[in-house]
Amino acid sequence: MTAAGARTEPDWALATHEYFLGGERNRGNSTTFVDNMKLPVHRWYRYSAGYSSTWAAELIRHWGASRVVDPFAGSGTTLLAAQEVGAESLGVEVHPTVARIAQAKLGWQADPEELRVSVERVLAQARMDRPVKVPDSPLVAKCYPDDSALRSLLRLRDTVNEIETQDGRIREILWLIFVSIVRPTSPAGTAQWQYVLPNKTKSRVLEPFDAFSKTAEMFAEDMEMRRFLVGGDVAQASLLSEDARRLDGVPDNWADVVITSPPYANNYDYADALRLEQIVLGEIEGWKDLRGLRKTLVKSATQNVGNWNSREALESDILAPIRRELTVVYDSLDEVRKTRGGNKSYHAMLAGYFYDNAKVFVALRRVCAVGAKVCYVVGDSAPYGVHAPVEKWLGDLAVASGFKSWSFSKVRDRNTKWKNRKHDHPLHEGYLWIEG
Ligand SMILES: C[S@@+](CC[C@H](N)C(=O)[O-])C[C@H]1O[C@@H](n2cnc3c(N)ncnc32)[C@H](O)[C@@H]1O
Repeated sequence: MTAAGARTEPDWALATHEYFLGGERNRGNSTTFVDNMKLPVHRWYRYSAGYSSTWAAELIRHWGASRVVDPFAGSGTTLLAAQEVGAESLGVEVHPTVARIAQAKLGWQADPEELRVSVERVLAQARMDRPVKVPDSPLVAKCYPDDSALRSLLRLRDTVNEIETQDGRIREILWLIFVSIVRPTSPAGTAQWQYVLPNKTKSRVLEPFDAFSKTAEMFAEDMEMRRFLVGGDVAQASLLSEDARRLDGVPDNWADVVITSPPYANNYDYADALRLEQIVLGEIEGWKDLRGLRKTLVKSATQNVGNWNSREALESDILAPIRRELTVVYDSLDEVRKTRGGNKSYHAMLAGYFYDNAKVFVALRRVCAVGAKVCYVVGDSAPYGVHAPVEKWLGDLAVASGFKSWSFSKVRDRNTKWKNRKHDHPLHEGYLWIEG
């Protein structure tokens, strides 16, 4: 299916879509992280924002790509998938903790025996009673009502931070093992997305030392399994902790394929995704310390917008290709919000979303070789029930930045459970194919 308004419909996009919707490959989960939870290394951190690595690997192979870029690399799914099919890759992720998670996963080629030995050292040291600095945070107090479990967890944190390892990759993997047990050792619930829900409790809570030990063994086995599956001599995959709107570290004309999923314009606050982990790690004290991070993220939530001048952005040259249509939605949202609880600045959020994504396309045009193929996994948006045809506007911005054409194939409907939603506009999710 192709969205109305696509300028042309490249044959390769249609062929690719048909290939993916055929038989075995028709997995409804291709746009979600679910399948990755069964795969070695991919499963080291459940990042709900991710998509299926099997799908990404299949697409890279189908296209015969040799250099893949992911400007919104998240937990590193595209990079690991590229390695699986022998393509070089470069990923960019601006959230420092998310970037570190991806980086730690990319260290999977380190020696699993060194990991096992280091884990024993960590456990032995952390079991020794010693004072710990407990974060002065109401969220931590609420999430860890059992003081003794909290202290065990924090002793693990301190030991992991101090430990010296021969191979620096092992240190990073130990850090990720710690990060991945922060939630399972708390009775607090987690939303379907990453937000922590301290008022909801779960029944199964793990003891910190036990959780660390078992998770570490799963990691070590995954390192062995991935080596068995992918081999030892794999293509280079690198993660840059920088801004997709500039892609400074990616060379000109480097990529022949881009596979990515940008934040959706659905008010999900990426800065908040790992707040509990960041507080426990001692990176931040609380909510107020997320302000700086929010400024670096593509605007996709009202929390990212603050006092940002959206009117001025709407008038900027970069939004000229969609200004007329966007302004109608912008003005409508500016009106509707006055009648709604919360009075949320969705109009500014949407202007910011397309303003930032336009910059990403300009940067992508620079790093993509002529004839490159791009796939964006993306969904549309309808804040306060006012619909924004996200794929069309992104497609138009991509073409304005120098790509040749775009088309869209729907994979699934979203927002069909009216009762739980604040609005009833049907939404969808799918692949935005861009040719350049
Ligand atoms: C939908 S997620 C991508 C998930 C990824 N495909 C995976 O499998 O883990 C979008 C990511 O974009 C990141 N992001 C937001 N603004 C960014 C920016 N300006 N530069 C780079 N990354 C950014 C977010 O932190 C988030 O991790």
